[in-house]
Amino acid sequence: MKNYPLFLFLLSTITITTCNAQNNTKKTPNLKDTFKKDFYIGAAINQSQIEEKNPAENALIVSQFSSITAENIMKSMFTHPQKDKYDFGLTDKFVAFGQKNNMFIHGHTLIWHSQLAHWMTEIKDSTEMKNVMKEHITTIVSRYKGKIGSWDVVNEAVNDDGTVRKSVFSNLLGENFLAYAFEFASKADPKADLYYNDYSMTNPAKRETVIRLVKGIQAKGIKIDGIGMQGHWQLNSPTIDEIEKSILAYSSLGVKVAITELDVSALPSPWEMKGAEISQRFENSPKMNPYPNGLPDSVQVQLAKRYEDIFKLFLKHKDKISRVTFWGINDGQSWLNDFPIKGRTNYPLLFDRELKPKKAFYSVIETAQDKQSFKKKLKN
Ligand code: G3I
Repeated sequence: MKNYPLFLFLLSTITITTCNAQNNTKKTPNLKDTFKKDFYIGAAINQSQIEEKNPAENALIVSQFSSITAENIMKSMFTHPQKDKYDFGLTDKFVAFGQKNNMFIHGHTLIWHSQLAHWMTEIKDSTEMKNVMKEHITTIVSRYKGKIGSWDVVNEAVNDDGTVRKSVFSNLLGENFLAYAFEFASKADPKADLYYNDYSMTNPAKRETVIRLVKGIQAKGIKIDGIGMQGHWQLNSPTIDEIEKSILAYSSLGVKVAITELDVSALPSPWEMKGAEISQRFENSPKMNPYPNGLPDSVQVQLAKRYEDIFKLFLKHKDKISRVTFWGINDGQSWLNDFPIKGRTNYPLLFDRELKPKKAFYSVIETAQDKQSFKKKLKN
């Protein structure tokens, strides 16, 4: 055979490629199986991901996550744009996506002052508001009864100083709007888990008020199943101790704790800002956007260590934690590129802009594994 050497060369190349592909498949761990016995691992997905526009993103979502939350499309300005008009086009697709992939589906959110349908802001009468809340919640929750496993029934009702936030709901109904919302949701789907969800939940003043409000709902005999701690955190704040104190305090109410919106900003904060108050904005500058072309390795390692500490804590309290959801899939998608300063380059998630797992990904995986094999990757 004249071309025998060429044939051998091609054969060996194919063999090596195949072996590499098999090894890569074997070596790449996934979050959902790694934490299967501990809690759901979720991600917030956007419209393009719900519609499976990008095959690589789709493959990543399906292979890594056991739960999904809609990042925006289930908020009232989209689902209920006019008093007599609902729009379930995208929410139906979102639920179908979760069902098709055997995922736990979380609904975000029913009652929230932000991204609120404009017509609701114009309600002036308390009886009308109560009726509107009842109709809004009942229509949406009933539609997905048995399909959506848990809901953020009320989102962000408390200010960081511990006062109840002024909103069209609290202005008309006082604190009672929370109890009404949970009552309507529990009637619409008695089996769904119902959550109160907020940011800065490690802040003692806020924690005290949330606990008081939840106890108030419980005292009325109304079902509330969980508290969602949004994890919009920084590299050094809140401390692990503060997070632990809060998990313990919330869970002592007899409810589940979910870490609902996890991301860790790698950028300086303009005023040591914690939380996620969307109305706050600051000017961009090179000082505030120090890594426009890539995260330096030293910070990559810091981020990996921060995620490791956070997940060690979650595992320590896995009996209290139902779900850990990342707020996005990859760094390029994160809302933190535009908040609290527009147009920065942030690196808060486990997958980079090319969808590759970061050091933080391997450090998270390693918290659940005895194997040391992934340590090597951290060093490289
Ligand atoms: O869709 C428009 C687009 O048409 C327009 O060109 C573009 C111009 O800026 O804006 C797009 O809308 C943006 C929308 O996200 C979709 O990307 C809005 O400006 C922007 O304000 C909106 O931000 C969302 C934010 O909630 C609004 O409150 C973020 O994506 C979303 O991640 C964020 O999620 C919240 C949770 O729901 C509750 N907890 C805090 C968390 C972070 O703020």
